[in-house]
Amino acid sequence: MTRVIAITSEKGGVGKSTLAVHLTGALHGRGLNTLLVDEDDRVGSGLRWAQRALAAGTPLPFGVVGADDVKPKMLAGLDALVLDTEGRPRRKELRQLGGRADLILVPSGVSPLELDATRELLEFLTPELDAKGGRAQLRVVLTRVPPVGRAGEEARDALVRDGAAVCRTLVRQYAAYQRAAEAGTLVRDVRDERAATAWADVQALAEELV
Ligand SMILES: Nc1ncnc2c1ncn2[C@@H]1O[C@H](COP(=O)(O)OP(=O)(O)OP(=O)(O)O)[C@@H](O)[C@H]1O
Ligand SMILES: [Mg+2]
Repeated sequence: MTRVIAITSEKGGVGKSTLAVHLTGALHGRGLNTLLVDEDDRVGSGLRWAQRALAAGTPLPFGVVGADDVKPKMLAGLDALVLDTEGRPRRKELRQLGGRADLILVPSGVSPLELDATRELLEFLTPELDAKGGRAQLRVVLTRVPPVGRAGEEARDALVRDGAAVCRTLVRQYAAYQRAAEAGTLVRDVRDERAATAWADVQALAEELV
């Protein structure tokens, strides 16, 4: 059975595509047959990322396809399908995700405003998913977490107190991710002293999710 992991948020620029590319890479690294489906065709998207990788002669080790180009044969034997949703999904589309995904991952920054936006999304989605009989699980993953200080832990504790399911792994903020996006590679392949640390976060997240 293919596990479908959708990455979505109402707020733009939270790190969805960065997380989608890297989570797919880390799941692939764990030996899973993985595919990234990109529902967003703008500049920062996974498809463009894969195109840069190809242009640099270092293709990503997993498939990346646009939502309209998914073929049944691509899904055969797939262990995990990661869905990077469009930038600012409508509520109708968010609701439909519940029927398409096994896990809805909501990346969130740790600032009070970002946490409020995340809470609002959870307040909308939780009853929607419950009403559907709950195929999809809903989990927050904190991203762009300042590597210094305890803002990530504090945000996680606050969300958990509010009843949210939150990944233990904090995906920390490192410039290496930007460099990875520019080069169309995974952060582990960037020449940067924090590359291995950043990649370790993604690997921990993948381990937590499968
Ligand atoms: N963990 C991280 N550390 C540092 N920078 C990050 C991290 N995650 C994402 N970024 C940067 O944040 C910016 C937005 O990331 P990304 O494009 O992944 O967000 P998005 O949610 O997919 O945006 P959109 O809503 O436009 O689709 C990019 O410049 C990316 O390099
Ligand atoms: Mg994106």
